[in-house]
Amino acid sequence: MMQKVRGIVSDFDEYQGHKIQKLSLTNANGVTLSLLTLGATIYEIMVPTKSGTHNIVLNYYNSKDYLANPFYVCMAIGRTAGRIMAGQIVLNGQTTQLPQNEGTTTLHGGPEGFNSQIWQGKIIQTATGDAIEMSHLQTGDGYPGEMQVKIIYTLSPDDVIGIKYIATSTADTVFNPTQHVYFNLGREDTIAKQMLKINAAHIQELDQNKIPTGKQIPVKHTPFDFQQPTNLGKAIAEMNNTTEKGFDDIFVVNQDQKLIAELSDPKTKISVGIESDRNGLVMFTANSFTHDQMNLIRTKGVGKPYEGITLEPQTLSKAGSTRDFSAIELKKGEEKPYTIKYHLHYKK
Ligand code: GAL
Repeated sequence: MMQKVRGIVSDFDEYQGHKIQKLSLTNANGVTLSLLTLGATIYEIMVPTKSGTHNIVLNYYNSKDYLANPFYVCMAIGRTAGRIMAGQIVLNGQTTQLPQNEGTTTLHGGPEGFNSQIWQGKIIQTATGDAIEMSHLQTGDGYPGEMQVKIIYTLSPDDVIGIKYIATSTADTVFNPTQHVYFNLGREDTIAKQMLKINAAHIQELDQNKIPTGKQIPVKHTPFDFQQPTNLGKAIAEMNNTTEKGFDDIFVVNQDQKLIAELSDPKTKISVGIESDRNGLVMFTANSFTHDQMNLIRTKGVGKPYEGITLEPQTLSKAGSTRDFSAIELKKGEEKPYTIKYHLHYKK
């Protein structure tokens, strides 16, 4: 009989008197997925190599570093991924002013978003073995309704990581969660030699505050064309004359294929295919990572631009200047689950 996926719980550290736990799942192939109860953060994804295992996501040494970083490294994002113009949502004709955390904008759920919460973590049982359940009552973040949120993290016997977000709210609200995982599949400090494919023929046009204007721009003949596997270093170099000096963009995903994106490293032969049930993908190449104040483990206590790439599946909201939040609305009592999957491939 196939060996089942095994889960274990251990102490990670303590933050301001709160115990932070680490929960891990390991399958029979030797793949391990670890989560922290702080921010429902993906702490490690270890894949087997010839000589041992290799961690393919960025991580920090301790909870303090996670909370000090402005880049949401591998943390759960909610209630709403991305930017809300002027921090205002309109539901049923009523405007709610959310706390703003990026000038006048509310980014990634605001100052009290999912990433800043300590979640209740436990190991649960599924047909293929153990899984991780993170749960939290999201309240006091300025959004309408108290929201009971569960995120179920699974690892399959054939190396597929699943993330399922389930929420219910006591009032009509908005819900557009994601996971801010920064991958680096190689052994080098940056992702420059890795290849990326995104199944998207358009990106969204953004204004100076990075809020979608409602217009779409075709990617053909631009550095945003990742419809075929494309070298990231070369693509980033083509963005050198922009203020961003890299990518921080919203791709409109074609939902005609199983995978919306694939990242691979030609040298380590590790790849990740991303499956999502939603029509948007934000790609950020860590352009603004700083040397100081980023105690990342990969680069031994510093940060480097392009050290990782985050690919954040989410629902494209029509919001921005249109004020139409219907695409991400969650009605009182309604349950509308979202799933993200990472298909891992490697050669031993
Ligand atoms: C991305 C966002 C970037 C940056 C990053 C986290 O989703 O588009 O502008 O804020 O998250 O640092």
